[in-house]
Amino acid sequence: MCPLISIVIPTFNEKENVRPLIAGIASALSSMSYEVLFVDDDSPDGTKEEIERVAKDRSNVRVASRKGKLGLGSAVLLGTSRALSELIIVMDADLQHPPEVLPSIGEKLMLGCDLVVASRNTQAGGTKGWSTFRKFVSWGAKELCYIILPASKSTSDPLSGYFGFRRSILKNVEFRPRGYKILIEILVRASYSTVCEVPYIFVGRKSGKSKLSLREYINFLLLLLDLKRLKPKQPT
Ligand code: GDD
Ligand code: MN
Repeated sequence: MCPLISIVIPTFNEKENVRPLIAGIASALSSMSYEVLFVDDDSPDGTKEEIERVAKDRSNVRVASRKGKLGLGSAVLLGTSRALSELIIVMDADLQHPPEVLPSIGEKLMLGCDLVVASRNTQAGGTKGWSTFRKFVSWGAKELCYIILPASKSTSDPLSGYFGFRRSILKNVEFRPRGYKILIEILVRASYSTVCEVPYIFVGRKSGKSKLSLREYINFLLLLLDLKRLKPKQPT
């Protein structure tokens, strides 16, 4: 039977996080039907094999894999195209996106929101353990995004990597994913009418390392400029 929600999780070298994450999702969504679809980019640490081991005992867990590290944004799109459900939630594998927030994202999707952003920039949201400098860089990136792409103002956290959407809002859009920030491209180019938010606190990583590099900051700037040049898709 088709699950109600598909959770799409891009991975690169996240072996240690696979089991705790799946357990966290299972306890958060105990009363909902869902599938978990990982998209792994040939992780040398054996992430894919670890997922396959867990999937032997859990029929709602799958992994799609690609050859080479092709980027978070395109991994999200591949997962979305292979997902079984119309309702998609995207989250990171490293437990920085708390699974306890999944039910509220799912509920908002079921209530009819086209796009649901888990936001750090709400009263109950935030970040844990960030320096003032990191907060400033994140704030600056958000404000730059708002200036260059006014459509991104429909959420308080356009840089979030934790969000849900109806797959139909992506129909007929040819994405040109660049790096991490696929939500920004969705905000600018997808056909949606309602954007909802749920608060969340971005917590520290317990295992593994962030893959965020200088290249991703450059990708972010190039993405903003690319999207500025592209004519946004008009609602159909
Ligand atoms: N398949 C695939 N391919 N997955 C990737 C790749 C890639 O090239 N690069 C990173 N990932 C996966 C990681 O394994 C992790 O599950 C997730 O994408 C996020 O990567 P991190 O390296 O942990 O990112 P971060 O914590 O620095 O950044 C996060 O926070 C930002 C907000 O500050 C991400 O969630 C961003 O999307 C988010 O905007
Ligand atoms: Mn992370």
